[in-house]
Amino acid sequence: MKRLRRNFHLSKIDSTSAYLLRRRFVLRNFSTCSADYQTNGRGRENRTWESSEGQNLLLSMLISDKILCSNFNYLSVASAVAVSLTVKRYGIDCQIKWPNDVYVNGKKLCGILLESVSNEKGIESLVVGIGVNVNQTEFSNELLREPTSLKLEYGKNINVKKVKRILIKTIKKIFTEIKNNDYRFMEFAKVTDYLKGKNVVAEINGEQKSVFVLGIDDNCFLSVKYDYKIVSLNSGEITFHKN
Ligand code: BTN
Repeated sequence: MKRLRRNFHLSKIDSTSAYLLRRRFVLRNFSTCSADYQTNGRGRENRTWESSEGQNLLLSMLISDKILCSNFNYLSVASAVAVSLTVKRYGIDCQIKWPNDVYVNGKKLCGILLESVSNEKGIESLVVGIGVNVNQTEFSNELLREPTSLKLEYGKNINVKKVKRILIKTIKKIFTEIKNNDYRFMEFAKVTDYLKGKNVVAEINGEQKSVFVLGIDDNCFLSVKYDYKIVSLNSGEITFHKN
């Protein structure tokens, strides 16, 4: 069956990522879905992603390319780099909080959630879901980290569609580099590593530890030091606690 590449924009949907996952067999690699409003926006660790209608960028991209799916561990950080480079166009410098948040001045600007579907051969397709706070200036205080938005940082309203256009182009460029074994985005990730050099409380494989973060390593794992040892962890092995 010939797959269709489509870029959808919807006024209202449960979740842009769920929308693409449901259509993953008929859509081509790099198809996107964005929306003004999500009724069931999904966040990490089973949280919901709240966003005022029409204010922010709610974007998902389908990845069905086999090479990219096998590079799963790089894609969160690569997407965070794409967001940072997009935002840099507005003169705003970001930091990447491994594995998938983008921070500005210690506040969360963007959250990224990768959802994958596997078969017996491994990951068959995945959806990168990105929520960037663009023009929202008031947030509910249930959030774990203090949020910010491009408007709060830049001082003016920003065209959400333009941010989307730049971001899609930047993700495609970085993902195509990865497909060609070019991991240059890692240099940017390493110099904007938010956790590097910090002592954090984290749960490692179910045990609470106080760890010193050495930084993002070449495999996009997080290198940390605790109990007199240095280990590289993937995002499933470590959960951060607010400290
Ligand atoms: C996080 O918890 O920080 C990740 C949030 C990811 C939210 C985005 S918004 C677009 C896409 N659709 C969803 O349902 N979630 C992601």
